[in-house]
Amino acid sequence: MRLIRSSSWHAVTTFILLVGMQPVQASIDLNLSNKDSIKKAAKVAAAGMVRYYTGYRPGDVPGNLPDPYYWWEAGAMFGSLIEYYYYTRDTQYVDMTTQAMLWQVGRDKNYMPDNQTRTLGNDDQAFWALSAMSAAEVKFPDPPPDQPQWLELAQAVFNTQAHRWDTSTCGGGLKWQIFAFNAGYNYKNTVSNGCFFNLASRLAVYTNNETYAQWAERTWDWVNATGLIGPSYQFFDGSDDRKNCTEINHIQWTYNAGLFLLGAANMYNHTNGAEIWKTRLENIIAGLDIFFKDNVMTEVFCENTHCDVDQRSFKAYLSRWMAATTSKAPFTYDLLMPRLRASAAAAALQCNGPDNACGLRWTRGADYDGSTGVGEQMSALDVFQANLADRVPPRVTNSTGGTSKGDPNAGTRNSDEKFLGISEMKIAVGDQVGAGVLTSIFVVATICGVLFMVK
Ligand SMILES: *[C@@H]1O[C@H](CO)[C@@H](O)[C@H](O)[C@H]1NC(C)=O
Ligand SMILES: *[C@@H]1O[C@H](CO)[C@@H](O)[C@H](O)[C@H]1NC(C)=O
Ligand SMILES: *[C@@H]1O[C@H](CO)[C@@H](O)[C@H](O)[C@H]1NC(C)=O
Ligand SMILES: *[C@@H]1O[C@H](CO)[C@@H](O)[C@H](O)[C@H]1NC(C)=O
Ligand SMILES: *[C@@H]1O[C@H](CO)[C@@H](O)[C@H](O)[C@H]1NC(C)=O
Ligand SMILES: *[C@@H]1O[C@H](CO)[C@@H](O)[C@H](O)[C@H]1NC(C)=O
Ligand SMILES: *[C@@H]1O[C@H](CO)[C@@H](O)[C@H](O)[C@H]1NC(C)=O
Repeated sequence: MRLIRSSSWHAVTTFILLVGMQPVQASIDLNLSNKDSIKKAAKVAAAGMVRYYTGYRPGDVPGNLPDPYYWWEAGAMFGSLIEYYYYTRDTQYVDMTTQAMLWQVGRDKNYMPDNQTRTLGNDDQAFWALSAMSAAEVKFPDPPPDQPQWLELAQAVFNTQAHRWDTSTCGGGLKWQIFAFNAGYNYKNTVSNGCFFNLASRLAVYTNNETYAQWAERTWDWVNATGLIGPSYQFFDGSDDRKNCTEINHIQWTYNAGLFLLGAANMYNHTNGAEIWKTRLENIIAGLDIFFKDNVMTEVFCENTHCDVDQRSFKAYLSRWMAATTSKAPFTYDLLMPRLRASAAAAALQCNGPDNACGLRWTRGADYDGSTGVGEQMSALDVFQANLADRVPPRVTNSTGGTSKGDPNAGTRNSDEKFLGISEMKIAVGDQVGAGVLTSIFVVATICGVLFMVK
């Protein structure tokens, strides 16, 4: 548009000629009334996502994505493929996914592989556990018996993190980082605590063990008491524990709301529909308004400016967890589905890049924004397949057909102290980087500045 406005007729004709000569890439066809059409759209988006992954090739490391993708996003990506199997019954990625999910468990079988642990945040570790949890819930094929099992892996991460609950500041909560030498160790953030809440509530439903439910309650109460849940159920980013969590970073991301949405749905389910969780769930859903424009999902705190590599994947998780919420709390179906439908339709239009690559900004419809990557593909995949939520059997528990074997004591035999003891000498000064899910306090200031201009 800008080109035409500022140009002579000569430029206009050149422009028209150029456009006319280039084959215009069509968007992905998506008929939301047709199951096969949704599956087909998911298949195209999945292929576009998996194209970035080379870990299954000989000589490559299973479970890792190439730069610039952090380790946690690979865990999230395999979660997307686990859900893909559930929704479509397409088995083509099952072996690849199992290989990756098992390769990365680490020596203690709790998603702390040596290669990642020194830069690991609680959220990074938890994202792999949430994928393992999904695998148990959707009956993703169980690993061979001599390998760790999905439920056991989720329990191992839960136990490792429950041990890290930190009452020395802010009255409790999990820190973002695990080790003091990592930037972000002083940040108690919503995503780390949200992952823990989400995992605990789902373990409560799957195993019917009350201990998990108690941890979920404790985490909710702490997050709320700390002011990380706002009066209109905004989920703010986090708080500095050097100030005893008296100051809140107010930025909001889709995935934080999604974590609490699905966690609350599981608590609602676990309590057989307790009024308190029903109300919370309804309020969380009302609070989602900020992330939708005409029912189309938007990562509103960055899409007007610049979303980093991590942030470009966040809509995948809100989509994934909205769909799962309709399974655990069926009354939410009519509240959530209109948004998943409109978002999927808009995302399909935005998948009109080369080879149907999906752009980031669904609110732009067919006006392709040129942003490409694993996050963009994953978000489109998750929002497409979310529309199959009412066409699949419900997610299972141990007592309703689940087959994944657990171990309530998994992850309790190892400790962060032990890890530090054996690895301290290997950590060079230059390695002291804070990797992981990017809610970094350092970028927040920048983003807030940018937002101020936008708003
Ligand atoms: C969408 O799918 C439904 C169900 O298969 C079909 O009846 C309808 O004609 C399709 N719509 C379009 C525009 O193809
Ligand atoms: C750790 O990194 C090494 C070197 O790249 C690789 O050979 C190994 O497979 C990796 N281990 C895991 C669990 O990723
Ligand atoms: C820190 O916050 C917690 C939770 O609000 C409170 O119980 C505690 O007294 C505070 N500590 C200090 C030193 O202010
Ligand atoms: C959250 O905390 C506020 C203030 O402490 C309290 O009034 C409110 O009842 C709590 N809400 C929930 C849903 O836990
Ligand atoms: C709990 O989840 C199951 C399985 O999805 C569902 O059938 C049941 O209705 C849910 N319970 C409540 C109280 O909604
Ligand atoms: C899960 O179900 C199996 C088979 O029904 C049963 O043997 C086992 O005790 C159950 N585990 C838990 C934790 O309830
Ligand atoms: C319930 O979970 C807790 C915490 O992991 C564990 O200590 C306990 O043994 C579990 N109880 C049963 C019956 O599995």
